[in-house]
Parts: sequence; structure tokens; C-alpha cells
Amino acid sequence: MKFVSELKRTTYCGLLRASHDGQVVNLMGWVDTRRDHGGLVFVDLRDREGLVQIVLDPNNADMAQAHSVRGEFVIGVRGTVRKRPEGMINKKLPTGEVEVVATHLEILSEAKTPPFQINDENVSENLRLKYRYLDIRSARLNQHLRLRHEIVRTVRETLSNEGFIEVETPILYKSTPEGARDYLVPSRVNQGTFYALPQSPQTLKQLLMIGGMDRYFQIARCFRDEDLRADRQPEFSQIDMEMSFVDQDDIMAVNEKLAQALWKKFRGVDIGKIPRMSFNEAMNRFGNDKPDLRFGLELQDLGAICKNTGFKVFDDVLAKNGAIKGLGLPQGADFSRAQIDKLVELSKKAGAKGLVWIKVDKEGKLTSAVGKVLPEEKVKEIFNKLVPEGKGAAFIVADEWEKACNALAALRLHLGHELKLIDEAQDRFLWVVDFPSFEYDAENKRWAARHHPFTSPQNQYIEDLKNSNEKVFPEMLAKAYDLVCNGHEIGGGSVRIHRSDVQAAMFKALGLSMEEAKDKFGFFMEALSYGTPPHAGIAWGVDRLTMILARTEAIRDVIAFPKTAKATDLMSEAPNAVSREQLIELGIRLAPSVEKAAGTASDANA
Ligand code: AMO
Repeated sequence: MKFVSELKRTTYCGLLRASHDGQVVNLMGWVDTRRDHGGLVFVDLRDREGLVQIVLDPNNADMAQAHSVRGEFVIGVRGTVRKRPEGMINKKLPTGEVEVVATHLEILSEAKTPPFQINDENVSENLRLKYRYLDIRSARLNQHLRLRHEIVRTVRETLSNEGFIEVETPILYKSTPEGARDYLVPSRVNQGTFYALPQSPQTLKQLLMIGGMDRYFQIARCFRDEDLRADRQPEFSQIDMEMSFVDQDDIMAVNEKLAQALWKKFRGVDIGKIPRMSFNEAMNRFGNDKPDLRFGLELQDLGAICKNTGFKVFDDVLAKNGAIKGLGLPQGADFSRAQIDKLVELSKKAGAKGLVWIKVDKEGKLTSAVGKVLPEEKVKEIFNKLVPEGKGAAFIVADEWEKACNALAALRLHLGHELKLIDEAQDRFLWVVDFPSFEYDAENKRWAARHHPFTSPQNQYIEDLKNSNEKVFPEMLAKAYDLVCNGHEIGGGSVRIHRSDVQAAMFKALGLSMEEAKDKFGFFMEALSYGTPPHAGIAWGVDRLTMILARTEAIRDVIAFPKTAKATDLMSEAPNAVSREQLIELGIRLAPSVEKAAGTASDANA
């Protein structure tokens, strides 16, 4: 009897329990380990659901095959489930109360010795990425990918129940600005022209609203050529949605329902209502717009008590309308000089020009970086404001407001992790609202959209936008909102501009000439003029959401085939050079230096 064609699998290895005692089963899977005990051979057989121990006894089975199996061979086994004797139970395995006494074993495919042991946690990530299909056999990746599937399934179910319709939108499309560079795809049929892979389906989902779909969602693949970080990938997935005839509160209510459904299902908790905080408050209290609320260590404003100190750094910053902010750490009384120096370095990396520190040790001895430039009374006053407990360490940054906030946010997060101030057992959500519409791009001397150019300013600013009243731009607030969880921005969205005159004014404010606006978004502007419902939407990052629910810090851990920090795939070696013929077909010629480096024109490829 042949496995697969005649002997069909009856169950998964990992599902066998004491209740199956006495049943005859057909199993198929990978050899995790094989232990040869002279007469008896033990095989741990692994499949998607877990491992079970197989016993091969010369009295019952044909041992020739049993002796030749090796790690990662794929085999079929038929045998009888039996309870293990009391002392032999393996409590670490869900199947540990049973074993399968084999009567048949068939090798379905042999395997080379793998470059690492599946489930060995001490293997370099690069090696695991090169042999990703082997790593996917590990319990860790298996669980993450299945969690991701369940998350997407819950999203589809919840949104479908709320009346959303899933619509697919094109990947070969036109540039949609989300602040990153585009990935371009050359057109063969229309040489010299390019598609851009969507950074998000932003304009498309707005067009679906104009098309009357009313409520749309999509698990959408997005592509952004940007610097990668631990929670960013060049291609990633969004839970993208859009609704018509709604305002900000309606979108937030639906998304709160979605977050509640997800957390109920995957954490078994009721997260209740998600609190809201303005961008300004988030920045002032936590230093960034995605605060991790699982710990305190809040920033404080020192502008008032640092006025007219005679310390040039402070006076200059205040004269230029900058900010002096700090945070205090009662746990810091024992900090060594080396530890403090490390924190100074860290703040500089985060953009601060320097970090002022003050320390009062357990004996009450005060040391500080500003002892020479500030009177001791002032140093004490600042310290006591930041550390009312009287002992500890205080850190101060004086700079432009946003820079001071960012540097202290980096310090706060570092200290939160290092001093284990974060309660990892809970998840803390927050809506951040009232974002500024614009940020000033000093390098290019122009205003840029903080969210994207389709985001509506709040009502009271619409006239100023239409009148191009630039003086108001720095304070103009948008109808934009971010969903934050544990310091991650898991979603972001906005109420959209639905009038073509306002959209034209926005493009103008962003420095786009009429011609540029027409060239890039002419089709969209035209669509807006054919009857556009007021509409709003949001997109969540599926990968970030899964990271949080899987409690992992690396986005690569929740993607089946991720890219490295250099946007390469170590397994397939993409991106790779292409043949000269392919380039000729596309009407593309590489610059000579690039051609040499990429090896495109080599004879082997040509
Ligand atoms: P935004 O650019 O804020 O908004 O993206 C929405 C969410 O997508 C996730 N995300 C990423 N995840 C992984 N890798 C990346 N490189 C990456 N970039 C973004 C984040 C983020 O919160 N069109 C708008 C949405 C809208 O206005 O409706 C948009 O894309 O979790």
C-alpha cells in the first residue's frame, strides 16, 4: 500500500491525544529527530500541527526503511496510537501522553542535511532568510503565519458585517504620494513610460467612493521605496478602508469595533473605548505622535523656570521660540558616568545638539553637566521639578520644539525598555487627533502634507487654504487621526477633501503648479468634479498589527518571505540583473557604471 495514492492521511501528527488511544492512524510529515536505540528506533514526526513520537519496533515494522530515515526526510507512517506509560509522559509536548507504534513506514522524499536545525533559535537571521522555507517549518513562523491568517479572516468578517465591500485595485498604476519613493515598472508596450506600484490605494479608494461603493475595504499590498526600520518593509499589507457620508467620529467608531473584535478574539480582553489625545499633547507629554502609554516617564516643560538664567544655550533657544523640556528618573541615582554618557550619545543620535543632565545620588550629592554655567540654586530648582522625589537623574534638551520632543522621546523609550518600566502584559491604545496639515520642508523650501495631499483641513481653515494664506499654514490642523498601540502607529487616516476647488488649493499650497497637478492628478481632479460624496478612511498596517498580537519586535517575523534592511531577498536573490534583451525590449539602457556593477551586459546574461 502506497502512502498518498492509497493510504490517505487520517490526522495531523500534532493533534493526537490520549483520547485517540487504540486508533490506527496514517500520518505524513517531516522527521524532526531520529533516535536509534539498537533494536528500537524513535522518530519525532512533525507536521503543521506539531510533533508526535513514532516507535519503530522490529517486531511490528519493516526496519530497513526505519534505519535509513534522517532529519527532514518526508515520510508516511501507519500505526496504532497508544498511551505512554506513566513515567514516559512528555509534559512539554501537547502530544506527550501518546506515541504511535508503527506498522508501515515509507520514505516519500529524502532531504539533504539542512543548514540548521529547525526550531534552533541560535541561528543567524541571514541564514534563516536564505533558507526561509526551512524556517517556515519552525513552530515560531508557523504560529505567526497562522495568526496573520486568523487576523485577516477576522478583519474580513468584521468589516463585511459592517457593510464593507472588498474591492481589488490595480498594482500597475500611477504614483500615489505617501511620502516615499515609488517603485517603477517600465512598460514594454509603451516604451519610455512607467507604471508606479501603489504606495497605497489612496486615490483608487476615493474613486470608489465617487463610484458610489459607499463602504470599501481591501487587504491591500503597498510598495514604498524608503529607509527600512524594524517595523517597515518595502512591500507590506494594509487593511485599507473608505466610507462615504461620514465624518471623523464615524470612522473612528467602526475602527474601534474592529480593534475590540481583534483583541477579544486574540487576547480575550475587552479594550473598551479608545482614548483620544491631540498631536500637541502627545508631543508635549511623550515627545512623539505615537506614544507608548504602557509606562509614564512623561516629559515636562521647563520654559518658564529656565527663563533668563544667563546660560547662553537656554537663552538662545527661548529667544528663538524653541523649547526646553526634560524628564526625571528617580531610578537614576546610581547611574554611572558611562551610563550617562551613553544617554547623551543616544539623544544626539536622535537629533539633539546635546543633553543636559543633573544627578543627585543616594547620599544627596549633586553632580551635573551645567554646574559651571548655572547657579546651584537654579540647578536644584530644575532638578526638583523633574524629580520631586529629590534623588535620581534628570535629563534636559533645549532645541526647536519638535527636535527637543523627538530627542527626549528616544531617551524615554530607551529608558523605558532598559529599566523595564513597560508592562508588557497589557496593550494600550490611543487615537492621536488634530494633526497639523502641513510640515515645512526646509531643504526644498516648501510646505509638505503631513498625512497626504487629500486630507481635509479642519473646517475653520478651509477659507485660509483657498486664499493661500500661508501665515496660517503652521497652525492649520487637519481632520487626520492615527491609531496607536504600544508606541506603534498601527493605522492612519483622514477625512478627505471632496471639493475640487479645495483640492486644487491644497495642491497649490504644496507648491504644485497647475500643470504638475494636472499631469499627476488630472484624472482625479476631474473625478472630484462629477459629484463626490463627503468621505473619509483609514489604513492599518497588517504586518504591524500582527507583530503586536504575536508580541514580536521584528516585522520580518510575521511575513512569509520578507526583505532584508537593504530591500533584498536573500533566498531568491532579488532584485537581480536582467538580460540585455529584456532591457532592449523595454527601451532601457543602463548607465555604464551601473551596467558594470549589475553585471547586466555580461556575455553570460546577454
Ligand atoms: P499611512 O502612510 O499612514 O496611510 O499608512 C497606514 C499604515 O500602514 C502601515 N505602514 C507600513 N507598514 C509596514 N511597512 C511600511 N513601510 C509601512 N508604511 C506604512 C502603518 C501605517 O499606520 N493612504 C493612507 C491611509 C488613509 O489615509 O486612509 C496611508 O497609507 O501601520
